[in-house]
Amino acid sequence: MSDLTPSESLAKNGFAGPFPRFASEETLDQIAAFYSDILETAPTHPMYKRYSLRDWHLVNDQVRELLTAPELVRTLQDTLGADSLLLWRTKLFEKFPGDGAIDWHQEYGYFDGEEVGGHRPALFPMNPAGEWDWTLWLALTDVSEDDGVMEFIKGSQRTTYPKRMVQLNESGAFVDPRNRVRSKEELLAKAANNSLVLDIDTRRVFEGIDTDKYSLEELFEIFDTFCAGLLAVVTEPFEVDPADTRTVPMKKGEYVIFTERCMHRSRASLPTAKTRLAVNARYALGETWVYPQRATADTFDGSNLDISQHKVVPVFGTSLNPNNTYLA
Ligand SMILES: [Fe+2]
Repeated sequence: MSDLTPSESLAKNGFAGPFPRFASEETLDQIAAFYSDILETAPTHPMYKRYSLRDWHLVNDQVRELLTAPELVRTLQDTLGADSLLLWRTKLFEKFPGDGAIDWHQEYGYFDGEEVGGHRPALFPMNPAGEWDWTLWLALTDVSEDDGVMEFIKGSQRTTYPKRMVQLNESGAFVDPRNRVRSKEELLAKAANNSLVLDIDTRRVFEGIDTDKYSLEELFEIFDTFCAGLLAVVTEPFEVDPADTRTVPMKKGEYVIFTERCMHRSRASLPTAKTRLAVNARYALGETWVYPQRATADTFDGSNLDISQHKVVPVFGTSLNPNNTYLA
């Protein structure tokens, strides 16, 4: 840790922490086991009616209690200087041995799903000149330099980096499923239940194809063609001085807080590394209107999830946007 306070570090570097573990190891292990089970069995999310790694805090009390714990709330209050805060999204970030990087990206705070080709803002700020959203990234397993560590470019939140549209499978957020699929049966099952590529509806990829006639690699080529037909946003390549970046290895239960405007990535995992799990939570100013899309008849968000059942969790403060649907 530097000698800056967390709020100074957030303002200067774009991230703060790592902060010490506040939950018991037992609680963290139970939550990690809960998420491991989701990865293994790919259940239907009760709110979204399809497979998703998002927003299990609305289903699992233990996950929600972790992300609204009093110790964490105190850190958020001290670090963000917000008078009111809500929790609107969580997501599991898993990295299996041999998984590639999620490449450098930044997000100015509308969360419209552009990384997977979406363009529907998830947040509507009351004061777009300021900041309205922050991310927490909490390690559920120890994270070393070798198994998908987070990395930030210090101070990059003040620069908007150029982006361009590419084919989905060239996007920095794309994780090639070849590393995770061992058989044709597994590929077809994962495509059918949308657990092949996060946030992409893959149910029709192999429709009308006599899959018996193709090898696993040939089926992957069909899948590649499908992905090539989808567009996503990627940051243009840029030079970065290694002295300006910082990786954040963490022990289980430690966490960082950052603005998504700060350029960040998670590095690849070595084939010999262990599986690393982290939960990410997004907190917005209480005044923020979450999912304005819900006011229309089309309630799908930028990541292709039907958010009509979504609920916002108040974290602290009272100035909460009345347009949001809150968890009772
Ligand atoms: Fe990110």
